[in-house]
Amino acid sequence: MSNRDIHAAWKYHDSTKHSYWSIRNNPHFLDWENRPASFKIYPMIEPLPLPREVPQTGVSALSAISGLAASATDSVPGLQDLARILHFSAGITKQRASAGGEFYFRAAACTGALYEIELYVVTGDLKGLEAGVYHFNPADVSLRLLRKGDFRRNLAQATAMESALAQAPATIICTGTYWRNAWKYQARTYRHFGWDNGTLLANMLGVSAASGLPAKIVLGFVDAEVNRLLDLDTRREVSLCLVPIGRTAESLLPDTGEVPLLGLETIPLSQSEVEYPAMLEMHDASSLASVEEVLRWRGKQTSFASSSPARAPSDREVLLKRLPETEQSTDTIEQVILRRGSTRTFDRTASISLAQLSTILDSATRGLAADFLEPGRAQLNDLYLIVHSVQGLKPGAYFFGRAQNALELLKEGEFRAEAYHLGLEQQLPADACVDIFFLGDLNRILERYGNRGYRAIQMEAGVIGGKMYLAAYAERLGSTGLTFFDDDVINFFSPHAKDKSAIFLLAIGKPLKRRPQ
Ligand SMILES: Cc1cc2nc3c(=O)[nH]c(=O)nc-3n(C[C@H](O)[C@H](O)[C@H](O)COP(=O)(O)O)c2cc1C
Repeated sequence: MSNRDIHAAWKYHDSTKHSYWSIRNNPHFLDWENRPASFKIYPMIEPLPLPREVPQTGVSALSAISGLAASATDSVPGLQDLARILHFSAGITKQRASAGGEFYFRAAACTGALYEIELYVVTGDLKGLEAGVYHFNPADVSLRLLRKGDFRRNLAQATAMESALAQAPATIICTGTYWRNAWKYQARTYRHFGWDNGTLLANMLGVSAASGLPAKIVLGFVDAEVNRLLDLDTRREVSLCLVPIGRTAESLLPDTGEVPLLGLETIPLSQSEVEYPAMLEMHDASSLASVEEVLRWRGKQTSFASSSPARAPSDREVLLKRLPETEQSTDTIEQVILRRGSTRTFDRTASISLAQLSTILDSATRGLAADFLEPGRAQLNDLYLIVHSVQGLKPGAYFFGRAQNALELLKEGEFRAEAYHLGLEQQLPADACVDIFFLGDLNRILERYGNRGYRAIQMEAGVIGGKMYLAAYAERLGSTGLTFFDDDVINFFSPHAKDKSAIFLLAIGKPLKRRPQ
């Protein structure tokens, strides 16, 4: 299958849409006896414990996620920096006892708390860590050495010598494990790969920036080469993106040639697993097979600003204005990540201010360092809002014009009942102050990037959504990701959203404070 045959992405997207009837007619149930383990475990490899106490960055969450944090001159991470970045991206931040035993929550939001994203590190010699390919296990806060030696050139070659990656002292690779999420969500898991990898990346980019280390999302790579380097069983687990961390002038060691297969033993996740061919096909069809294909693909990078150029606002537009500097939260990125947790009930009587909403939108959409976007504020996703209770805005449906930095009123009205329906008949989007829908022009995106554009738009939505989570919690508000009835979302925002596809949904509001019993 070829990346250019975009029927594959359409087929996957259409076949995994939720609708009122698809939900009711799905006989799937959760087999708790066969629930997959939350951690990948290599029983034969000794752990290398990471430091658990690392110095705080002191950088505010809002500036870290906005990309405003200053970059230090020395940008080679040490072991403490790596430990900080890994922990605040994928580490265990909360523990709760439940009927089924202890339950561990992680730094970033994840569908169903199933944590299907694994992290690996490919590094040269660092202070406190020798060159190698490592797996990160959040359960015991350790790295495990899979391959000894410097494999950075192998990795760089798989990306066609992508500039940030070719100069990086270390690169983190994010993978997705199908069954860990598909146990609950079946074939829709391929969308969740992008969402859940994205929220994790929002933390990773923010903490890297706060640590004075440049970081970038690299989506253009020869899949088979990266998967082989990590010794992945690709029917179960696949590489999703690479994140070079830091910058060094030191030149890379020569290529080691084709890396040998390792066949490392790992503990099975469940007694049995179900394979969903739709996802394997989607992955295959969005894979890049050669360095030449990677180069051609990266050449497709685009400004993709679907909002029109800047102009004076019309009377249907409300300009956004960030909170004044003195009123913005100075809570550090680490404090905010530790505080974050998806809101389970919103206070329907509460409201937020327009300045708070503006700060969240602005902080999350200042642009992303990614090899599929031009530097600046390019973005694949368009944002549409249902406003329920934001002081200074009439309740209604809006479009976020990024160039105008304004919200355009599409239709006025109380749409709590509609939001309840669109968000899969859940109370959360009905009780929030505002619901933010991410929509994309898949026709244009797939035309440009092939099937891999589908990976890109889902992941970008997750990153922007993840930044919004953090901005909301910085302002001591609450937030949650949500899923949705695909076509009903498009109908609701049409005619403006005609021909677009629903990608992601996030609700923001004030958490309901439970009264002491
Ligand atoms: C993309 C995305 C979609 C989600 N969808 C829902 C949802 O439809 N309903 C819900 O109650 N929670 C939803 N969640 C919240 C997750 O259940 C939550 O992130 C997970 O349980 C981990 O908990 P935490 O976010 O509090 O750390 C979603 C989260 C994400 C990231």
